Amino acid sequence: MSHSKESDELVFFVNGRKVIEKNPDPEVNLLFYLRKKLRLPGTKYGCGGGGCGACTVMISRQDFITKKIRHFSVTACLVPICSLYGAAVTTVEGVGSIKTRIHPVQERIAKGHGTQCGFCTPGMVMSIYTLLRNHRESSTEQLMEALGGNLCRCTGYRPIVESGKSFSPSSSCCQMNREGKCCLDQKEKNITFFSLKVCTKLYEKEEFQPLDPTQEFIFPPELMRMADEPQKQILIFHGERTTWISPGTLSELLSLKMKYPKAPLVMGNTCVGLEMTFKDVFHPVILSPARILELFMVTNTKEGLTIGAGLSLAQVKDILTDVVRKLPEEKTQTYRALLKHLRSLAGQQIRNMASLGGHIISRLSTSDLNPILGVGNCVLNVASIEGTQQIPFNDHFLAGMTDANLKPEQVLLSVFIPVSKESVAPQQPPHDPVGRPIMHQSGIKHATGEAVFCDDMPAFSEELFLAVVTSTRPHAKLISIDASEALGLPGVVDVITAQDVPGDNGSQEERLYAQDKVVCVGQIVCTVVADSYTHAKQASKKVKIEYQDVEPVIVSIQDAIKHKSFIGPEKKLEHGNTEEAFQCVDQIIEGEVHFGGQEHFYMETQSVLVVPKVEDKEMDIYVSTQDAAFTQEMVAYALGIPKNRINCHVKRVGGAFGGKLTKPALLAAVAAVAANKTGHPIRFILERADDMLITGGRHPLLGKYKIGFMNNGKIEAADIEYHINGGCTPDESELVIEYALLKLENAYKIPHLRVRGRACKTNLPSNTAFRGFGFPQGAFVTETWMTAVAAKCHLPPEKVRELNMYKTIDRTIHKQEFDPKNLVRCWEKCMENSSYYLRRQAAEEFNQQNYWKKRGIAIIPMKFSVGYPKTFYYQAAALVHIYTDGSVLVAHGGVELGQGINTKMIQVASHELKIPMSYIHLGEMNTVTVPNTIATAASTSADVNGKAVQNACQTLMGRLEPIIRQNPHGSWEDWVNEAFTQSISLSATGYFRGYDAHMDWEKGEGDIFPYFVFGAACSEVEIDCLTGAHKNIRTDIVMDGSFSINPAVDIGQIEGAFTQGLGLYTLEELKYSPEGVLYTRGPKQYKIPSITDIPEELHVSLLTPIQNPIAIYSSKGLGESGMFLGSAVFFAIADAVAAARKQRGLDPSWTMNSPATPERIRMACVDQFTDLVCGSSFQSKFSAVPNDAQCLEQGG
Ligand SMILES: Cc1cc2nc3c(=O)[nH]c(=O)nc-3n(C[C@H](O)[C@H](O)[C@H](O)COP(=O)(O)OP(=O)(O)OC[C@H]3O[C@@H](n4cnc5c(N)ncnc54)[C@H](O)[C@@H]3O)c2cc1C
Ligand code: FES
Ligand code: FES
Repeated sequence: MSHSKESDELVFFVNGRKVIEKNPDPEVNLLFYLRKKLRLPGTKYGCGGGGCGACTVMISRQDFITKKIRHFSVTACLVPICSLYGAAVTTVEGVGSIKTRIHPVQERIAKGHGTQCGFCTPGMVMSIYTLLRNHRESSTEQLMEALGGNLCRCTGYRPIVESGKSFSPSSSCCQMNREGKCCLDQKEKNITFFSLKVCTKLYEKEEFQPLDPTQEFIFPPELMRMADEPQKQILIFHGERTTWISPGTLSELLSLKMKYPKAPLVMGNTCVGLEMTFKDVFHPVILSPARILELFMVTNTKEGLTIGAGLSLAQVKDILTDVVRKLPEEKTQTYRALLKHLRSLAGQQIRNMASLGGHIISRLSTSDLNPILGVGNCVLNVASIEGTQQIPFNDHFLAGMTDANLKPEQVLLSVFIPVSKESVAPQQPPHDPVGRPIMHQSGIKHATGEAVFCDDMPAFSEELFLAVVTSTRPHAKLISIDASEALGLPGVVDVITAQDVPGDNGSQEERLYAQDKVVCVGQIVCTVVADSYTHAKQASKKVKIEYQDVEPVIVSIQDAIKHKSFIGPEKKLEHGNTEEAFQCVDQIIEGEVHFGGQEHFYMETQSVLVVPKVEDKEMDIYVSTQDAAFTQEMVAYALGIPKNRINCHVKRVGGAFGGKLTKPALLAAVAAVAANKTGHPIRFILERADDMLITGGRHPLLGKYKIGFMNNGKIEAADIEYHINGGCTPDESELVIEYALLKLENAYKIPHLRVRGRACKTNLPSNTAFRGFGFPQGAFVTETWMTAVAAKCHLPPEKVRELNMYKTIDRTIHKQEFDPKNLVRCWEKCMENSSYYLRRQAAEEFNQQNYWKKRGIAIIPMKFSVGYPKTFYYQAAALVHIYTDGSVLVAHGGVELGQGINTKMIQVASHELKIPMSYIHLGEMNTVTVPNTIATAASTSADVNGKAVQNACQTLMGRLEPIIRQNPHGSWEDWVNEAFTQSISLSATGYFRGYDAHMDWEKGEGDIFPYFVFGAACSEVEIDCLTGAHKNIRTDIVMDGSFSINPAVDIGQIEGAFTQGLGLYTLEELKYSPEGVLYTRGPKQYKIPSITDIPEELHVSLLTPIQNPIAIYSSKGLGESGMFLGSAVFFAIADAVAAARKQRGLDPSWTMNSPATPERIRMACVDQFTDLVCGSSFQSKFSAVPNDAQCLEQGG
C-alpha cells in the first residue's frame, strides 16, 4: 500500500470535459465544486441534505460487472467529489444552452409552463433527462418515480409531469387533463376559460423538437479505459482536515478497516454526509469501498437472494422486481414488501446513491427496509481480516446489541434474503398576446440553468462571506459575547455585533443584531465574516455567548393568553344582535380548533449580496425580495445614510409566498452593516436549516366558536374568537389578524355574527406574511363549524354550506356590498364537473364494503377578497423607454417571483404599443429606475403595475400618434426615428394611484376590496385507518378568473396555490420543543407536497368570463386564493374519518386540528389499537374538542 503524503489525481469528466483535481478535499461536495470551482451555477442549492432535488445532476459510470454504462441521477449536495473518480457528470449546462442549442427536455418544460420561479427547474430537467437517457419511451409511472425526489413549491407539478409525458409516443401532450385527453381539444368539458379574447391552447406540440439521442454526450472512452484497468491501485486524497482512501481490493479494504476501525465506509454518503453537514461530525479518515467487486455481487439460489451491500437501493429494486416476476407469489412476500417500500423510499436520486449496506448499518429509526429485513429472517454476511461471519438480522441486531453487531473492523459484504415460506394473506380489494398562454419570459433560461439568481452571480473582487450566530435561548438577557476563539480561526476577518451598527439597529421591537436581550431561539446575535462560507460557519460555532434566562418563556397561544402577552389591541367586527339570536335558535354548539403554522419553503433560501462602493457611501444590494423599497429603507436606516445612496436590485426571486416581504430587508441590513465595517462585498446566503429557524412563517391560529342554528341547518348566530401566534415581534401580525376577521365569513351569510381577534406575542421567531394572509386560517375555522353543524343536524355538509351561502347582492361582515352571482356559479359548476352526488354515493358504497379503508368527499365554496385596506398600497409606477432602433425597455415596480408578472407586463406593453413581444425587454427591477415601490403581494401586483405600464405606453402612443397619422403605412422603426428627429421624448413614466379603499375599525365597516375572486373545490380521498396515510383521488376546482391576461400563468397560480394549500392542511407540520426550539429544519423533517402527493386527477376550470371593469383588461389576481381550496382535501379526509367513526359507533361531533397528518388521522379512527397506545382516556380526548398535545409542539 503506497501511502505518500501527496494526493493522487482525481480524474472525472463534467459535461464532456476532463477535470483533473490535484488536491481534492474529501469534505467538498459536488454541488459546491460545480457552482464555485467550475462556475456552473445552473445546479442549485435548496437544502444541502438530499431532500429537495434542486441540485440534481446525472452521473454516468461503467458497471463493474455488466460493463454497460449506467446513467443515474444524484443530488450533488451529498456527493463527495472524491467519490467521482472515473465518473462522468452531466449538469444542466451540459444538457443544453440558449447560447448553443436547448435540449427538448428544456424546451418542453419551459413551453409547457412547467416553470414559475424557475429555481427547481434545472433539477427537474436533470431528472427527466436522466430518465430519457435510460428509457427513451418511459411510462408515466417511471416519470413520477424519476421526479419523486424533486420538490417544486410553485407549480403544483402537473405541467412538469405533462412536459415529461410529451416524450412518450402514447402521450397526447395534454396540459389540462391527466386522463390522457388533449389540451388542444377545445371541446374538453372541464376547461372553460374561453371567450373570444382568450386563447385556450397552452402550447403547440408541433413546435417541439424531437428527442435525438445522437446529440447526447457519449461516455468518455478514456473513462472506459480507466474502468477496465485492474482494480488494485489504492487512491488517496488528502484534504485540509480529512483523508479519503479508496482501496482496489477486498483484502486492502479489510486491512484498512483494521487500521482505521472508526473510519466510516462511505457508499452513498446519504447518512454520513448528512451527519457531517448538519451535526458537525468530523472524520479524519474516510474509506471508500466503491471499487470492491465483492460488494456488488448478486447470487440467486432456490433458498433466496444474496445481494451485495454496495448495490444502490435503486439497483436492489430492479433486482427484486426481476425476481418477483419469475418466482411463485407465495415465495416473494418479503421481496414484495421490500419493493413496496423501495418505491416510496426517498426520491429517485437518493435511491440511486444510497447503498443497501449503508442503509442497514446506519440503522436509522425511520428506516423503511430494516423492519422488513428483520421479519424476513435475513442474514448479514460480514468479513474482517480475520475471516467471514454470518450475523442474523434480528431485533438484537436492530437494537445495536454488542453481541449481535458488526465489530468496528468488520465490513458488510452482502445480505441474504430468503424466499418466503408463509402463504400470502388475502388483500383487501383495491398576436396580441393579451389573453394568450404566453410562456414564462424566463422559462427557457430556467430550464437551461442560465437564469441568474442571487447566489449565481459571479464573485466580486475581495468578496467575503457571512455566517450567523443565533440565540439558543427563547428569552434571556445577553450578558456577553466572546468572539476571541472565532477570530483566531483561519480565514476569519471579523465578528459583527449590535455595536457595529452605525445607524438604527432595527427598531425597539425588531433588532437587526440582538441588543441586551434575546426574545426567541434563532434570533441573530452576531455574524462572522470570513474568506469562505465554510470558514465563517466553522468560526460561528466558536463564538461563546453568555445568557441570563428571563421568565416567562411564552411559546403557545395558550401561554400568551395566560400572560396577557399581545401585539396590538383586540380587533372586533359585529353585525346583527348575536346574544338575542342565541335565545331563538334550536341548538347551540361550542368548540375550538387549532390550526398549525406553515414554513414558506421557497426553493431559493434568503439570499443577499451587498457591494459597497468607494464613493459617497453608495451601496448596491442584490437581494431576493418581494419589497425592494423596504430593503432599501432598512439598509439606509441601519447605515444612517439617505436612501438615495442605496440601490436594491432584484432580477428574479426563487419563490417567496410572503416569506420575502419583510425578512430580506432585515437580512440585507445585517449584511450591509458587515460590508460597511469591513469595506468588502458580502455574500449572505442562508442555509435551509438557518432559514427555517430564523425567518418564521404562517401564523398558527386558535379558533373558538359558539354557533346557534336551527334544526334544518340554518345558522342564525355565531360568536367567534381568534388568536394567532405572532411570535416575538409585530411584523405583519396585526394586519394578519385583521384579514382573518374581515374574511372569516368566507362564502356564508350569517345574520348575527360577532368576531374578535388578537395577535399573541410569544418567544418564537416572528411569524410573517404568507400567501392568503390570514384567510386560509380564518376560513378553515368557519368550515370546521359548518361541518360540526351538519353533523349535529344529521345533514350532509354540502347541504348546510349551500343553505347558508350568500345568494343575492348583499353586504359582507364589514358592510361592503358585493354580488355573489359568480360564487353560486362556481359552486354549481363544481358540483356538476365533479359529479358530486354520484361520487358521494360511490364513496358511501365503498365505505360499507371496507372496514380499514374509507373514502371521503367534500366540496368547499370560496369568497376571496382581493387587496389591501389602504389606497396608497395599490399605487404603482413604471418606466418605458423606446430606443431609436425600435426596441423597448420596460421597468415596473413589481418583482418577478415566479408568478409571471414580467411576462404579463411584456404582454401589456405589446398590446398597448401594438408591437410584437420580441421588441420588448424587461431587465431587472431596481430602486433607481422605479422608486418608492409597494411590495409585490396581495395578488394585485400584475393588476396595478399593469395599469402603470399601460399608462406609460399610452403616453408614448399619444406622442407618436401624429407621426403615425402622417405616415400610416410606415413601420414602427420609421415612427420612432421620426419622433426622435422631431425631438419628441421616447421615454415615459406611468403611474397608477390605486383603488379607493378604506376601513373604519371603530365602526367596523369599510369598502376595502376592489373585487372578489370566487371559487369552489371538490376533493375525494381514501384513508387507510390503520396507518393514517391518505391518497388524493381527485380534485375539481372551478375559479372565477374573469378575463385572464395569460391563462397558462393563471392556471399555474391556481394549481400551485392549491398544492401549497394541500400541504398546509394535510402534510406540513412545524414541531417545536416546549422551549420554542424548532425541530423541523429541512425537507426530511418538514414535508412539503411532492409529486406523489398531488391528486391522481386534477381538473381546473375558469368560469366563462364576465366583466371585471376595475382591473386591467378585466383580469383578476389569482395568486393567493387557490391556497384555501386545499382545505377541500382536509374536509374530505374529515369526511372519511367520520365514516370510520360512525361505523365504530363513535361521537359524530368530532373535530380535527389542522394539518390532517397521518398521526392525527390514525388516532382519530379510534379502535382497539389506538386504545393500546393511549389507554381508555384516549377516546374521550380525541372525540372532545381537539386540545391535543400537538398544539404545544406547534407553538399554538
Ligand atoms: C433525503 C433523504 C431521504 C431519505 N428518505 C428515507 C426514507 O424515506 N426511508 C428510509 O428508510 N430511509 C430514508 N433515507 C435514509 C437512507 O436510506 C440512508 O441514508 C441510506 O440508505 C444510507 O446508505 P448510504 O449508502 O448512503 O450510507 P453511507 O452514508 O454511505 O453510510 C452509512 C453508514 O453505513 C456504514 N456502511 C456503509 N456500507 C457499509 C458496509 N458495506 N459495511 C459496513 N458498514 C457500512 C458506514 O460506515 C456509515 O456508518 C433518506 C435519506 C435521505 C438523505
Ligand atoms: S440541495 Fe441537494 S437535494 Fe436539496
Ligand atoms: S418553479 Fe418550481 S420551485 Fe418555483
